[in-house]
Amino acid sequence: MESTNQHCMILLVLVLILTCNVIIASSSSPATKRFHFNVEWKQVTRLCHTKSLLTVNGEYPGPTIAVHEGDRVEVEVTNRIAKNTTIHWHGIRQLRTAWADGPAYITQCRIRGGHTYTYKFNVVDQRGTLMWHAHFSWQRASVHGAFIIYPCAPYPFSPKNQAEIPIIFGEWWNGDVDAVESEMMLLGGGPNSSDAYTINGLPGPLYPCSAKDTFVQAVEPGKTYMLRIINAAISNELFFAVANHTLRVVEVDAVYTKPFSTPAIMIAPGQTTNVLITTNQAPDPSGMFAMAATPYLTSSFPTDNTTTVGFLQYKGRKSGNKNAKPSVVVPNLPKMTDTPFATKFLGKLRSLATPQYPWRVPKAIDKRVITTISLNLQDCPPNRTCKGYAGKRFYASMNNQSFIRPLMSILEGHYKSFTASQMLASSFPERPPKAFNFTGVDPVAENMNTEFGNKPLAVPFGTNLEIVLQDTSFLNPENHPIHVHGHNFFIVGQGFGNYDAKVDPMGYNLVDPPERNTVAVPVGGWSTIRFKADNPGTWFIHCHLEQHTSWGLVMAFIVPNGPGASQSLLPPPDDLPSC
Ligand code: C2O
Repeated sequence: MESTNQHCMILLVLVLILTCNVIIASSSSPATKRFHFNVEWKQVTRLCHTKSLLTVNGEYPGPTIAVHEGDRVEVEVTNRIAKNTTIHWHGIRQLRTAWADGPAYITQCRIRGGHTYTYKFNVVDQRGTLMWHAHFSWQRASVHGAFIIYPCAPYPFSPKNQAEIPIIFGEWWNGDVDAVESEMMLLGGGPNSSDAYTINGLPGPLYPCSAKDTFVQAVEPGKTYMLRIINAAISNELFFAVANHTLRVVEVDAVYTKPFSTPAIMIAPGQTTNVLITTNQAPDPSGMFAMAATPYLTSSFPTDNTTTVGFLQYKGRKSGNKNAKPSVVVPNLPKMTDTPFATKFLGKLRSLATPQYPWRVPKAIDKRVITTISLNLQDCPPNRTCKGYAGKRFYASMNNQSFIRPLMSILEGHYKSFTASQMLASSFPERPPKAFNFTGVDPVAENMNTEFGNKPLAVPFGTNLEIVLQDTSFLNPENHPIHVHGHNFFIVGQGFGNYDAKVDPMGYNLVDPPERNTVAVPVGGWSTIRFKADNPGTWFIHCHLEQHTSWGLVMAFIVPNGPGASQSLLPPPDDLPSC
């Protein structure tokens, strides 16, 4: 099965490269790539449990979207279930096409059962590995897949890879995932943990009944492969390593990096990482090498602390011993609490930053927003029992605002102001409401009873914006993967403890900072991101740990139209779902 996919993928690369050359030669209008997604249930068995799993086209993980830089993409999504859904193209900038971004109630109303919506957008000046996923309740647990953009120019790194292998991490629940969210919201406690992590939908030999559900990739000895690694998990950052093999990082979040070698990677939900791996080792008698992912644990909340394992199988290297069992041990995998490893790994990431791939980090800024990213406690509603902490319920917030989804799409609500190029009211607090020792031992009651609502942050078109994301140790400090829709950003600085506006900017990297769409803010620390707000629309900024999104660690971000016609949001498509 996997090797068939592999061949398709190799063919696809050839075809796409040809297409690209044709486009460049004639510089005609972009090629349109069309896809059809049916959101539908499928009976799937893992860990001896059979359940109805929400899928696209019956596939888990879902189908790969592979297009070319410059292509126009049209994905017709038909909702064939009795629940609502939407799909998000995570990391695609959606220049002028915010209507196609996907988060429910931010840029569109939900696609109701039996209805169809066609997402139409262009892939402009982006290349590499991204993902797509459902953006309605916790559906992305199983409704996700790879979004691959092949470049027009040759890869700026060597050696050339022989082939590429998508590696998508996910989480499997034996029970119904929607029920995990609704129970969590009803009782106010933490979510039930997943029962397994998966590599390309398969948990691997360390789980019950799962030896047959193991991802095995055949490789030829002495070649270089590109792993396109995607973290589609719901609740945890992950470490990943391949026994005896070094990983050479060449791209993150569809942006080339200065290549570097590492024994393992840390990858947060919402992030993607391309690595090269060379099959130059002598395999064990089974001909196999284990690859494994474990969570990177920074929170004291109970969570899934299991390990998913798959294998690289060297072709023609199996010994005569039929009973040789492959080792599942991956010695170079960091311990689950290895924050020093995560810090060192992230610290090595640098934009490639060459004239061909220029970096556009704003050297000066027009506005700095400092926001806490925090867990909170909220009083229990009267006559209810809450399972959070001390009889209260969990929430989460940015600057003590816990986001509650509106009933209508925010983008639609604001569209008239967009066409009039009006500046929309900004009401999100641009500083924490109270200064306290955010990452101290016990920030007591500072984050209790946050304000519910959806006050947006709005900035003039073209603003060079800096956002400082400050973790807090209220309840417990935690690594938060913060994702920005509609814009890539540069991570110009990060550190542990409290951000100091006088001292910390002096240490910023304004030369070759990593460019991403999701930043893993250090546990008990802060990250500073910078970007030019030059994409008109209403955008989601949120924690990509799904429970934190449910609890309100979210903000809406608004950029009005720019002065030029090419800087304006296009009109809403005719088939945009109505509320
Ligand atoms: Cu992948 Cu709003 O998220």
